[in-house]
Amino acid sequence: MASKQVKADSESIRFDTPEGVVEVLKKPEVDEMEQELELEKPKKKVQSVEELPGIGPASVEKLAAAGFNDLMSIAVATPGEIVGATELSEATAKKVIAIARANLEMEFTSGDEILKKRELMMKITTGSKELDKLSGGGFETGAITEAYGQYGSGKSQLAHTLAVRVQLPLDKGGAAGAAVYIDTEGTFRPERIKAIAEGCGLDPNEALKNVKVARAFNSDHQLLIADKVEDLIKQGVNVRLLVVDSLTAHFRAEFIGRGTLADRQQRINKHMHGLMRIADRHNVAVYVTNQVMSKPDQFFGDPTEAIGGHVVAHNSTYRLYLRRGKKGTRVAKMVDSPCMPEGEAVFELSEAGVRDA
Ligand SMILES: Nc1ncnc2c1ncn2[C@@H]1O[C@H](COP(=O)(O)OP(=O)(O)OP(=O)(O)O)[C@@H](O)[C@H]1O
Ligand SMILES: [Mg+2]
Repeated sequence: MASKQVKADSESIRFDTPEGVVEVLKKPEVDEMEQELELEKPKKKVQSVEELPGIGPASVEKLAAAGFNDLMSIAVATPGEIVGATELSEATAKKVIAIARANLEMEFTSGDEILKKRELMMKITTGSKELDKLSGGGFETGAITEAYGQYGSGKSQLAHTLAVRVQLPLDKGGAAGAAVYIDTEGTFRPERIKAIAEGCGLDPNEALKNVKVARAFNSDHQLLIADKVEDLIKQGVNVRLLVVDSLTAHFRAEFIGRGTLADRQQRINKHMHGLMRIADRHNVAVYVTNQVMSKPDQFFGDPTEAIGGHVVAHNSTYRLYLRRGKKGTRVAKMVDSPCMPEGEAVFELSEAGVRDA
């Protein structure tokens, strides 16, 4: 130990900075310190990236910026990815990955438990048989469905329709539950809820009471409200639908420029994980809407792309692309779903909500 200290003195570099003299150890010494760390086994169970031994605040920040914000993401990373994201040595990266793996709660669920969960799953119909067919009978509880498309394509109208139809009894295509509507753009319209309720034979005022609306004024507020949904459920509200309309608008407005893209994606990722947890733990159907941006440089294929890119796509169970069709109709397409039929559904937006064209 003493000899190391001497070596450390001879191998350190001193910098004169406005804040004073800063001493930095040269690389070989850092490696030795890392090896030393390896010997000292973490006594406490590691539960977050911050608690990983050998990872300082600066590395935590760099890891987070690259999307490594939980133990799982580190456990499944390669040492090269960790080294690329930080300035850690390969040895430390390997060790950190090993510790993340050792501390992960590996949960195995038996097939029959999954089956039991699937049996609890309900499907909220949309009012259009065609659209229901495309989504395998309706919007599933326990899953996230993303609808993306241009303005006026019907994303919010579908949200209003689902907020009413979730209240229908199971044999009428609902989930006999309430809806939570996170409104980020101020486009929630109680009059629409009433009109759609009348159209499905529900009492309009009762229907309105069963839609709990929260206006989110910025992206932080949006995440906070999403966190509060579980409180509402714990208080006994039988939430079966959670709408986030729009999922991405605040993020898009607040994080401008490429420099902040990683931050934005990380926040959206966190938000989506929170939504998935609600869907999964409480058997809630989550419906999120998403705008598109045009890709003027794209000559072939679809010239539009959903905001949030892979982060939203990978976290959504189902993705619907909505667009305007002929004669005022709307067209929905199920995008890259493993088990749903290819093809499109044509529907209509009416005073009573979504219906077949
Ligand atoms: N009461 C109604 N009866 C029939 N159609 C309606 C009614 N209200 C709205 N619409 C239709 O819905 C369209 C708006 O759709 P919606 O608000 O769902 O779009 P959106 O996809 O959410 O767009 P944005 O990206 O701007 O939020 C209107 O252009 C109109 O065609
Ligand atoms: Mg809208």
